[in-house]
Amino acid sequence: MKRKGIFITFEGGEAVGKTTQIALLQEYLNSKMKDQVVFVHEPGGTTLGEKIRNLLLNDNDVRMCGKAELLLFMASRVELYEKVIKKALNEGKIVIADRYYDSTVAYQGNARKIMDNEKILSINKFFLDGLTPDLTIYLKMPAEKAFLRKGNSTLDKIELEGMNFHHAVTEGYDFMSKKEPERFFTIDASKTIEEIHKQIINKVNSLIKN
Ligand SMILES: Nc1ncnc2c1ncn2[C@@H]1O[C@H](COP(=O)(O)OP(=O)(O)OP(=O)(O)O)[C@@H](O)[C@H]1O
Ligand SMILES: [Mg+2]
Repeated sequence: MKRKGIFITFEGGEAVGKTTQIALLQEYLNSKMKDQVVFVHEPGGTTLGEKIRNLLLNDNDVRMCGKAELLLFMASRVELYEKVIKKALNEGKIVIADRYYDSTVAYQGNARKIMDNEKILSINKFFLDGLTPDLTIYLKMPAEKAFLRKGNSTLDKIELEGMNFHHAVTEGYDFMSKKEPERFFTIDASKTIEEIHKQIINKVNSLIKN
């Protein structure tokens, strides 16, 4: 696919601060270049995607096998790509995504072991026109520490998996960051919100300028 825009994804386990940092980046970029930046989140971001999100994360009547889970995450992503991401990049916009296909490698591949990590990557490439993010910001910290940030908030179906699962998720992201070191920018997510925000702004600004 030929494209003119810039595609940035945020990745990492539960409660590492992805949504917090994206909100701060949104505030910063909107003050500089509003209308040029599109923010999306996964699963969801489309009418179909939001219904799938509810099935995957919140609807306790729906218990599904791991293969169905993998396909539903994929369906939500393909819809978001076809309806939102592709168009925005073709218009030369900056697209910032709260999770993308590295999440499927980490969760359904490395943690749930539904398919080999490399196979998960190749089906994603197939369905997403081979498009790779320009930059992936990986917020990394031990799952035990990150979960403390959740406090008393209700956990969704995936957050309720055990600690071994969440450790394997982190290993899955580590696998991807070793495999594609030029794309991954790993940040110590246990630092303060402000310190992390500064690192992200520096990195994003240098990417936008080039
Ligand atoms: N650097 C930080 N230090 C301390 N607390 C933080 C930090 N970043 C985020 N938090 C807090 O941790 C909680 C989880 O943050 P956030 O929702 O941004 O994580 P997330 O990665 O988007 O999680 P999820 O995977 O569940 O969507 C929030 O209460 C947030 O205020
Ligand atoms: Mg979030």
